[in-house]
Amino acid sequence: MPITLAFDVYGTLIDTHGVIVALEKHVGNKAAEFSRTWREKQLEYSFRRGLMQNYENFARCTSDALDYTCAYFKVPLSQQDKDELLGAYKVLPAFTDVAEGLARAKNAGFRLFAFSNGSADAVETLLKHAGIREYFIGVVSVDEMKSFKPNPAVYSHFLKRAGAVGADAWLISGNPFDVIGAISAGMRGAWVKRTPDALFDPWGIKPTLTVTSLLHLAEQIDQECRKA
Ligand code: 2OP
Repeated sequence: MPITLAFDVYGTLIDTHGVIVALEKHVGNKAAEFSRTWREKQLEYSFRRGLMQNYENFARCTSDALDYTCAYFKVPLSQQDKDELLGAYKVLPAFTDVAEGLARAKNAGFRLFAFSNGSADAVETLLKHAGIREYFIGVVSVDEMKSFKPNPAVYSHFLKRAGAVGADAWLISGNPFDVIGAISAGMRGAWVKRTPDALFDPWGIKPTLTVTSLLHLAEQIDQECRKA
């Protein structure tokens, strides 16, 4: 059975903090903190919408979170400024290790998918802009389920769409909540720990594998599968 790899997008392939440069114009040296709060609120809004069963797509979570963050930092941006920032969010850069890591994983015979909270259109645009769309068999969005990660139903949906079973499918993510969600739903999970001080939630569910970049991911998964 070939191994399927489901790559998370925002925070794994694509650097959400790539928006810091655009933010500096508006909030100067608070740009990094602003970006962190914006991202945390975006995810919180997706979790809450999932729980409330009050679905609006991820772009709406991003835009509502931007409004919140502007109010929090007392930065009254015009609608045009907000639109510019949301525009920058649609063409965020990939992390530098991503293209090479994906090429190696594809050449090693793994089946690659992008699996995201983002809508399929938004993800297609990001991947194309970053020049990495060609590595993927397809894009699976939670939008098809009108819910968000880490609802177990969205991981099951991914498996169905990819024609895979949990034991042969890995979720690759820089977001610990996503890795825990996937493992809890029966998949394997690789955590991409890009910075030494990144923390994994102490829930008693450990990543199947931890990597510091995507460069050696294919070899490391291969080794892990041989052990099993
Ligand atoms: C994604 O699904 C979790 O934001 C992350 O792309």
